[in-house]
Amino acid sequence: MEIQIAHISDIHVGKVNFMQDMLESCIHEVNEIDPDLLVLSGDLTGFGFKEEYKKADEYVRCFKQKKLIVPGNHDARYRGDLYFEKYFGYGNTVLKVSDDLTLIGLDSTIPDLDEGAIGRGKQRWLKKQLKKIPEESLKIVVLHHHLIPIPMTGRERSVLNDAGDVLRILVEEGVDVVLSGHRHTPYSWFLNNMAIITAGSPSTEKVRATIPQSYNLIKITDNWIEVKVKEIHGKERLMSKYRRVKGRLEFPLKKLISSHP
Ligand SMILES: [Fe+2]
Ligand SMILES: [Fe+2]
Repeated sequence: MEIQIAHISDIHVGKVNFMQDMLESCIHEVNEIDPDLLVLSGDLTGFGFKEEYKKADEYVRCFKQKKLIVPGNHDARYRGDLYFEKYFGYGNTVLKVSDDLTLIGLDSTIPDLDEGAIGRGKQRWLKKQLKKIPEESLKIVVLHHHLIPIPMTGRERSVLNDAGDVLRILVEEGVDVVLSGHRHTPYSWFLNNMAIITAGSPSTEKVRATIPQSYNLIKITDNWIEVKVKEIHGKERLMSKYRRVKGRLEFPLKKLISSHP
């Protein structure tokens, strides 16, 4: 297997803090790289407004790749979740790419609230879907809210409400990679043979201090998984690299260097 995934998050299309030229550059860059798959992990809009969704949909269509898209808390503001379904479908979805790779998208939003939760009903659904995937297949779960606090993001107040229960399901069912957004900060953790990766934002001014606008590029082969951070108009750097042994991830080949330039 050799597959490349562009992991983009928090594009935040709207009138406030949105950097249109940066998103256009991101679209251009990603289409040049032409990965096999695009993951958009939520916060496609600023406030969940109708006009923002229209615009976001136009931008998202510019990416030529096959996509998996989940909503973020900003998309569910002002009941924007209704528009999310209209433009981007149901947030809880299973995407079987091949016998070797399955992705599951999870809607972690609560309409009109910034906090996130999966809840017991969806936890059961998640467990059921994961059990259907063959053990040797790579399992990737995508949700907007982060499961573990991210350094350099200030006071922690938005980890998923039921992160503990969700983490247990993911570990018990052998999930290999979790992709999230929300904090506009690229980072990677490694917990119980599971890589937990967050992406930055390519196109909002709302980034922290020295963290530039960026997205992640993930390369997967039979033997390793490599995660790079690509700055918009800037350099590409390795964030983490994991060895795959008999279908399980092992401790990073290259430990996290630094999340920040
Ligand atoms: Fe965001
Ligand atoms: Fe968010």
